[in-house]
Amino acid sequence: MFLKLHQYLEKKSFALLLGIIGTVSVGGLIEIAPLFYIDSTIEKVEGMRPYSPLELAGRDIYVREGCYTCHSQMVRPLRDEVERYGHYSLAAESMYDRPFQWGSKRTGPDLARLGGKYSDEWHKLHLENPRAVVPESIMPPYKFLSERELNYKSVAAHLNANQKLGVPYTDEMVELAVSDLKTQLDEYADDYDGFMQRYPKAVVREFDGNPDKITEMDALIAYMQMLGTLVDFEEYQAEKDENLR
Ligand code: HEC
Repeated sequence: MFLKLHQYLEKKSFALLLGIIGTVSVGGLIEIAPLFYIDSTIEKVEGMRPYSPLELAGRDIYVREGCYTCHSQMVRPLRDEVERYGHYSLAAESMYDRPFQWGSKRTGPDLARLGGKYSDEWHKLHLENPRAVVPESIMPPYKFLSERELNYKSVAAHLNANQKLGVPYTDEMVELAVSDLKTQLDEYADDYDGFMQRYPKAVVREFDGNPDKITEMDALIAYMQMLGTLVDFEEYQAEKDENLR
């Protein structure tokens, strides 16, 4: 009976095509679907936390301006990359990224480990006019970011949307989103301690050097200064070695 079916399939190319699609998708489903449900797909890593409201707003600008068309955010586990950029990226490091920013093109360098590499002043100068600090740069200038006021009206809604998608923002974080956004620009703010508890390791300061205005530059630099800084890789390695023992 099977032989007959096979003979039929071999003669009718369209039926054969349907047969192939059926077979391959069963295989694909069995292999891929569980990955979405098994908790261990993404290893739990100490230190990962959701983006602070200001970082999230900066990330939006990064996406809006298409920085990902020239910059990747994924250090591959290859020796030359690890020596240039630092520890290779872990899956957990982009688990709160919606959408992820791995990118597929490196006209400029990878930015996954950018946090702390340069000062805020360097970033501001570089974004306003890349040639001012890197004479041979071909990166476009983004001077308007220093002048444009950050629109943070929808930041609480943005946190809320992320929360619905499974990012572990608490209701308190959503409620305090706007206040937390402002606190990150002012280390003397009343709620500094509460903010640091909600977003450990956040960098708090006036990023663009202009305390009178919350600009898109503030948000973008806040985002860039936290990239790749949340996981303590000495601790991560020690824990891994411990597990191997
Ligand atoms: C047309 C491609 C292009 C686009 C778009 C682009 N960049 Fe770049 N970027 C480069 C190149 C090339 C370099 C290397 C030369 C330099 O440092 O300016 C670079 C360097 C950088 C660096 C320094 C990285 C390091 O480790 O030295 C940062 C930070 C950066 N870009 C951020 C951004 C941000 C943020 C955006 C979006 C607002 C952006 N870039 C958009 C091409 C681009």
